[in-house]
Amino acid sequence: MVAALAGLPAVGTGVTTLLDPLRRRRRDTGMVLVTRLALLPEGGSPRKFTVRAERVDGWTTYDDAAIGAVYLRRTGSGVQALNVACPHAGCFVNLAPDGSRFACPCHKSSFDLDGRINDPASPAPRDMDALDVQVRNGDEVWVGFRNFRPGQKEKTPVA
Ligand code: FES
Repeated sequence: MVAALAGLPAVGTGVTTLLDPLRRRRRDTGMVLVTRLALLPEGGSPRKFTVRAERVDGWTTYDDAAIGAVYLRRTGSGVQALNVACPHAGCFVNLAPDGSRFACPCHKSSFDLDGRINDPASPAPRDMDALDVQVRNGDEVWVGFRNFRPGQKEKTPVA
């Protein structure tokens, strides 16, 4: 009996270690190098970029996986980054053919180029999700990529 009880901490540690990757499925990716400033159009037109980074999924680590996408746009004060996922239900938002706004193909939400809802009939509960962006070393565009819960007014990061 005493011997069996003595082994319990070791079993608990083993189970915790075994299940640890399941708790690490998603995590904050921190700042990710997305592109160079020279690849962003002058004049404020947005351009879509895939965001690639290390991704841990259970017991598997992917070194250079697509983890999402962003629209980047030069502004007067720097660079704006918007997550392409629609805050209504997560569909990827498109740039309208005339380049004047973003349009979601799923339920017709419409956003200005700065990500603000521009049609009161849009079902999106909030503006497009702005992300932290930094220009480093003169021309490297780094983005703090995050996903946020769709379908709610508050901008809540997905853990
Ligand atoms: S997912 Fe974009 S409007 Fe519904």
